[in-house]
Amino acid sequence: MPSEHSAYVSDTAPWRGALRPARSWLHSDAPALSLNGDWRFRLSPTAAVAEDFAAAGFDDDGWEGIPVPAHWVLEGDGAWGRPIYTNIQFPFPIDPPHVPDENPTGDYRRRFGLPDGWSDAERVLLRFDGVESLFKVWVNGVEIGSASGSRLAHEFDVTSAVRPGEDNVVAVRVHQWSAASYLEDQDQWWLPGIFRDVTLLARPAGGIEDVWLRTGYDDGRGRIEAEITADPSAFPVTLRIPELGVEQVWRTASDVAPVEVAAVRPWSAEQPRLYDATVSSAAETVTLRVGFRTVEIRGDRFLVNGRRVVFHGMNRHEAHPERGRVFDEAHAREDLARMKRFNVNAIRTSHYPPHPRLLDLADELGFWVVLECDLETHGFDNDGDWTGNPTDDPAWRAACLDRIERTVERDKNHPGVVMWSLGNEAGTGVNLAAMAAWTHARDPERPVHYEGDYTGDYTDVYSRMYATVPEAEQIGTDGSDAPLLGCTPAQGARQRTKPFLLCEYAHAMGNGPGALDQYEELVHRHPRLHGGFVWEWRDHGILARTADGTPYHAYGGDFGEVVHDGNFVMDGMVLSDDVPTPGLHEFKAVVQPIRFAFDGDRLAVTNLRHSADTSDLAFRWRVEHDGTVVASGDLEVAPVAAGESARVPLPAVPVAPDAETWLTVEAVLAAATAWAPAGHEVATAQQDRSVRRPVPAGRRRTGWLPDEGTFALGIAEFTGGSLTRLAGRAVTGPRLELFRAPTDNDEGTSDRLEGSDDALPEVSSAQLWRRDGLDRLTTRRIAVARTADALRTVDRVSAANSALSVTVESVWSVEDGELELRVEIEPARGWRTVWPRIGVRFELPDGTGPVDGADWFGLGPHESYPDSLRAARTGRFSADVGDLAAGYARPQETGHRSGLRRLTLTSGGTEVLHLTALPDTRGRRPGFTLARHTPQQLARAAHPHELPESATSHLIIDAAQHGLGSRACGPDVWPEFALRPEARTLRLRITGADPHAG
Ligand code: GAL
Repeated sequence: MPSEHSAYVSDTAPWRGALRPARSWLHSDAPALSLNGDWRFRLSPTAAVAEDFAAAGFDDDGWEGIPVPAHWVLEGDGAWGRPIYTNIQFPFPIDPPHVPDENPTGDYRRRFGLPDGWSDAERVLLRFDGVESLFKVWVNGVEIGSASGSRLAHEFDVTSAVRPGEDNVVAVRVHQWSAASYLEDQDQWWLPGIFRDVTLLARPAGGIEDVWLRTGYDDGRGRIEAEITADPSAFPVTLRIPELGVEQVWRTASDVAPVEVAAVRPWSAEQPRLYDATVSSAAETVTLRVGFRTVEIRGDRFLVNGRRVVFHGMNRHEAHPERGRVFDEAHAREDLARMKRFNVNAIRTSHYPPHPRLLDLADELGFWVVLECDLETHGFDNDGDWTGNPTDDPAWRAACLDRIERTVERDKNHPGVVMWSLGNEAGTGVNLAAMAAWTHARDPERPVHYEGDYTGDYTDVYSRMYATVPEAEQIGTDGSDAPLLGCTPAQGARQRTKPFLLCEYAHAMGNGPGALDQYEELVHRHPRLHGGFVWEWRDHGILARTADGTPYHAYGGDFGEVVHDGNFVMDGMVLSDDVPTPGLHEFKAVVQPIRFAFDGDRLAVTNLRHSADTSDLAFRWRVEHDGTVVASGDLEVAPVAAGESARVPLPAVPVAPDAETWLTVEAVLAAATAWAPAGHEVATAQQDRSVRRPVPAGRRRTGWLPDEGTFALGIAEFTGGSLTRLAGRAVTGPRLELFRAPTDNDEGTSDRLEGSDDALPEVSSAQLWRRDGLDRLTTRRIAVARTADALRTVDRVSAANSALSVTVESVWSVEDGELELRVEIEPARGWRTVWPRIGVRFELPDGTGPVDGADWFGLGPHESYPDSLRAARTGRFSADVGDLAAGYARPQETGHRSGLRRLTLTSGGTEVLHLTALPDTRGRRPGFTLARHTPQQLARAAHPHELPESATSHLIIDAAQHGLGSRACGPDVWPEFALRPEARTLRLRITGADPHAG
C-alpha cells in the first residue's frame, strides 16, 4: 500500500505546489548558483518506506555520496540497481495510473549557502532541468512541490523557504516509477535520477521573466516581433543588436512593436548566421543569439526563407556509455560536428527535448531541428488496440498539455527549431489534438508534427516512419490514389496536400541500412517529399565489464532485466564508442549536397543545397592508375547558386594502357569551419576512364586421370586433391561458404521478404538459412582428377537432413606461369530462399605468423554490399584484419569489400600472398572478407568478448553477397539486390610474395 506520502506516485496531475509557469531557458546576468556536485543519497526499495522528510528532520546519517547530475543506476557499482532496456514493453504491470510498490526511490539531500545579496531578490527559484520520473522537493523542511516530465524543466518558487547564510538544506525525493512513466515509454534505457542540472536562481525585482524574439526574414530584410513577460516595473526594456545597429526601447509590455532591420543575413542550417542580442531592463540583461528566418508551409512544400527544405536528418537520443542521458557539452559539440562532417543537416530530438544547451549548439553549427515533446505511450498499442491510452483519456489531458507547454516555452527562441513534434508513438486521441491546438495558438508560425496522426486531423505535415520506397514514392506522386496507411481515400487526398517527411527511416541497427540511395533519389523527383530522419544517430550501449574485467557495451538483458528488448537499442549510425559505422559513410555519400555528372570532357556541378552557394568549397581532381595517383590539380568552379548547375572543363586525363584509369573529383571545404578543417571532403565522384582489356580466357582441358596422391602445382601443394600449402604457408580450402553471420536485418521480421517464394511474414531470412542448414554445410567429394598441369575436384555440398545441394567444381592450373583457381558453383534444383552469399573460404592458420593485414585494389575503404555501395570508391587500400571489421555491438556479418581486383595478404607488414580476381564472363567482380572468425563463430556470439581466441585467419572470396535492407525495422532487401541461388564462377590468380616464385 502506498502511504499517504506516496499516494501521489499514481497521480496523473503533472505537478503540485509552488511551480512557476514554463518559460524560456535564458542566459541571464541575474545571479544563479549551480547546485550540481556532491549530494547525499539513499535508495529505498519502495516509495512508501521512506519517511516523510519534513517529519524526519532531514537526518542523512548513513547516507552515501552521489554526483548530481547522474542516474543512480549508473553510479554505485550496481548497489543502486541496474539500467533496464525496453522498447515498447512497460517494465511494470500495465495498470494505469498505478505502479508497483517495488518502486526504487532515491532521496537526495545537500546543504547550500544563500549568496550574499540574494536576500534582495524578489524571488528565489529552484530549477531542475531533468529528473526521472517524479520528484518532490523540500527546502529547509518546507515541502515546496512535486513535478513529473523527466526531460522537461521545472522551476519552483522557494523564496519563502530559503534563509540567509550557509544553513540551507534542499532535499529531493525521486521515484523511478510514477503515473508519468506511462507517458514516457520511449524506446530507450529507463534511467532514474536527477540527471540534468539543478540551479538556484535569484530573480531580481524588475527582472525579465521571459522573452521571445520571433524573427522573420524576407529578401535581405529582417523582422523581430518580441514578446516580453515582465512586471510593469521592469519597463523600459531595451533590445540591442550592436552588429545591426539595433537599439529599441519599449516603454510598456503592450508597446512592444516589431523591429524591422534593413539588411541582415538569413539563418539557415547551411549558413547559421547568428546575431548577438541583449534584452535589458534596469535590473536584468538577457543574452540571446538571434537568427533571422521565416518558416512556412506553402501548398505541399515546407519552406524556410521561401526555399524548400530537404531533411537529411538523424534521430538523436541523449545517450552516453558512461553517463547515460547526462549532458556533456564537449561531447555533444563533437557529436554535432561529426554530424556536420557526414552531411547531416537536421535533427529530430527523439523523443524528448534534449538538454537546452544542445539547441544553442544546433543554432550555432547549423541544423534544422524538429523539437519533440517528451511523450510516448507505446506500451498501450496491443496490436493497434490502444485501450486505455492516456492520450485519449481526459484524466491525462493536463499532463499532456503541461508537457507540450514546457517543451515549446523552453525552446521557442531557437532559430534552428523549425517544427514542433507532439511526441512519438502515443496512438491518437483528444489530448494530442489539444496539444496541437495549444501549439498552433501559441506559435502559429512553426508547423506541428506528429507521426501518429495518420489521417492528418490536427497536424500540419504528413509524417510516416519506415515507409517502403514504393510507398514513399506513391505519397509523393501527384495523382496517385494508392491508399495511405490508416486513411480513407478522402483523408489520403488531404494528406497528399501536405509536405511529407519520414520522421524515421533507414533503421541503422547493426550492418546496414541498405537502400539509402533509393530514398534519396525520390526526394529529388517528388518535391512534396522533404527527406527524413534516419533511425538513429547513436547506439545506446552502456559500458559494462565481464566478471574478468573485460569492458563491453551492454544492451538489453545484460543487466538481468525481467523483460527487455535485447540489442534493439543498438541501432545507431555511430557506435557506442563514437566510431562512425560504414552506414554513416554511406549516408554521407548518398546525401552529398554537391552532385557531379561527367559529360565527355566536361563536368556538371550541381548544387543541391537549400540556399548556400558553393563559394565555401574548393574543387579538386586526381587521376589514379590502378589506385596510384599519377596526376592531380584544382578545378576552377565559379560559385554555383543553390539549385543551379554549372559545367566546367575537365583536365586531360592520362590513360594507362595496362592499368585501370580512374578520375576522381572532389568538393572540399576551402577554409576551416567550426566542425571540420579546410580540405574536408564534402562530396566526391569517380569516373572510369580505363581502356577495356581482355580477360584471359580459361583453357579447356581434357585427358583427366583420377589421382588422389600428393603433388605440387606451381606454388600450391595438394594431398588427396585438397590444398595444403600455398607458397610454403599452410592454407586449406576452398570450401563453399553460403552463410554469413546474420545481420540484425537478416534476423528481422519486420516487413515481408520481397520477391522470395519463401516470403513468410514473421519469418526472418536468417531463420530460413538455418532451416536449410547454410550454417552447417558438409561436403562429399565426388571426383579428384589431374593432368600434367591441372587438378580438378568435384564436391557435392549439402546439410544434414536436407536434400538440397550445390555442386562445386574446382580446377587448379598453371596459366601464363601463374597458379589459377577456377571454382564453378552450381545449385541443384529446389532452393527457395535467398542466400546470404556465394563464396569460398580459405583458412590460413597462424603458423609462423598470422595473416593480419590486407592491401587491395578494388572498392573501399569501408565495407560495402550490393545495396550500400555509394560510399565505396575504386582505389588502393590497406587495413589490419581487426580494422576490416566494423565493431557492431552484436557480432554479425561485417567486412565485405566489393569489386576486388587484386589482394595482397600480409603478416606483420610482410607480403605473404597475392591474389588477382578475374571478372566472370558477365564482367562481375568478386568481393573479399578477411577475418579472424568464421561466419559460424560470429553467429554464435552475442557480444564481441564472447568470440573465441583465434589461431587462424579466414579469407572468403565471394562471387556475390545478399543486400542489407533494413528489415530489423523496415523493408527487406530490395529484389534487385537480393541474392537468389544461382550458378557462379570465381577465378583467382595466386602468386607468392615473390611474384617470380609463382
Ligand atoms: C520506432 C520508434 C523508435 C524506435 C524505432 C526502432 O517505432 O519510434 O523509438 O523504437 O522504432 O528502433
